[in-house]
Amino acid sequence: MIRLGVVGYGGRIHYVVNDAIRGLAPDARVVGVVDPDEAGVRKRLGDCDKQDAVFYKSLDEMVRQAKLDALLIGTRCNLHAVYGAQAAKYDLPLYLEKPIAVSMEQAIALEKAFENSRCQVVVSFPLRVSPLAELARKYIARGEIGQPIHVHAFNFVNYGTVYWEQAYRDYSITGGLFLQKATHDLDYLAYLMGKPIVRVAAMLTRGKVYGGDKPAGLICSKCDEQDTCIESPRNRKRNGSGGNGHPDKPCVFSVDSGLPGNPTVSANEDCSSVVMEFEGGAHGVYSQVFFTRRDAGARGAIVSGYQGTVSFDWAQDQFRYVRHHAPFTATEKVGQVGSHAGGDQELAFDFLGVIRGKNKSRTPIQTGLASVYACLAARESAETGQFVPVRQVGASLLAAAAR
Ligand SMILES: NC(=O)c1ccc[n+]([C@@H]2O[C@H](COP(=O)([O-])OP(=O)(O)OC[C@H]3O[C@@H](n4cnc5c(N)ncnc54)[C@H](O)[C@@H]3O)[C@@H](O)[C@H]2O)c1
Repeated sequence: MIRLGVVGYGGRIHYVVNDAIRGLAPDARVVGVVDPDEAGVRKRLGDCDKQDAVFYKSLDEMVRQAKLDALLIGTRCNLHAVYGAQAAKYDLPLYLEKPIAVSMEQAIALEKAFENSRCQVVVSFPLRVSPLAELARKYIARGEIGQPIHVHAFNFVNYGTVYWEQAYRDYSITGGLFLQKATHDLDYLAYLMGKPIVRVAAMLTRGKVYGGDKPAGLICSKCDEQDTCIESPRNRKRNGSGGNGHPDKPCVFSVDSGLPGNPTVSANEDCSSVVMEFEGGAHGVYSQVFFTRRDAGARGAIVSGYQGTVSFDWAQDQFRYVRHHAPFTATEKVGQVGSHAGGDQELAFDFLGVIRGKNKSRTPIQTGLASVYACLAARESAETGQFVPVRQVGASLLAAAAR
């Protein structure tokens, strides 16, 4: 039996434990939980965990008493770094949700906590370890496109309303959508290019689509515009435009989500873009758009070198390799791989491997920090209109990652 302790047993970590980890290790059990919402967690826990799970007041108490094999941190964004820094003290494998920090202060404190730590971390970056990204990286690493010189990455999110109608609408928890969303993309892009991001220029647009002047706390079932509003559950259902159909859904045009015409208010952005320079001089662009729907959904990258181009789109499950100087183009289709393009299962595989001492994490703490530093630089650039250098993970942690 693998004994798991969880801090913040919400919807995401329930999926990670119950489906991804237990899909590969049926004997994994949640034996300890730190979460203020005991009643909610008890409802969510898998049937096989309901009996054994003990609730603790603190991470320290859980580690001392629960005889854990591993830890998972699945709180909302603003607490990942706080609990992560505490977990660095223990010699227990750690599954850490992204973004692993939401401010520079948090990120630096987390980096410091890991400087002399033996705690091995699997940062929850499913895209980097997904079969499609791994295939693209293999082509690039084999030199099939020559040196990668340019990347064009895109993320047309067709479920983006979640950032205005779920807890993510609270900017003080998420810190905006570079940290919330682009943390995945800037991570896998650095992996594909084989180099860290060293400098960014970014731009964002907010208040053009979501946010508005509807009253705070407004929910659809209490609104008299349900027939005409294209975001009402009934119209979304008619139009096939997404959402969970709940009649009590919070209004995406309310003041809770930011004010229109006031670009200074801290609110999630409708769309944002980053121009990035990689160490060694290659560069790329990445855009994320949160108001697209239905078949407009797309997420992937086009990486070019002088010899060729590789491209993929997780929404199409498809990879393409074009040789620039020979008359060949190859296409590969991905089979059935599961959630997050198969990445969640790969993360579970890595985490179990670390627990059993059989393999290393492909997403160690250094990857989470590097991505947070790039996202914070993007946020700063979007606010100041300046190019911003990206803080780099310190030498001692990089050396630890290379071992
Ligand atoms: N890696 C991915 O692809 C991916 C996908 C979805 C969500 N996420 C991330 O997962 C995180 C959790 O998202 P979620 O949808 O599961 O949220 P959630 O609200 O369902 O879960 C958060 C849990 O943390 C608990 N909590 C609150 N305060 C706490 C505290 N002080 N100490 C311990 N626990 C506390 C809550 O009671 C809740 O059970 C978010 O940061 C989100 O960005 C990552």
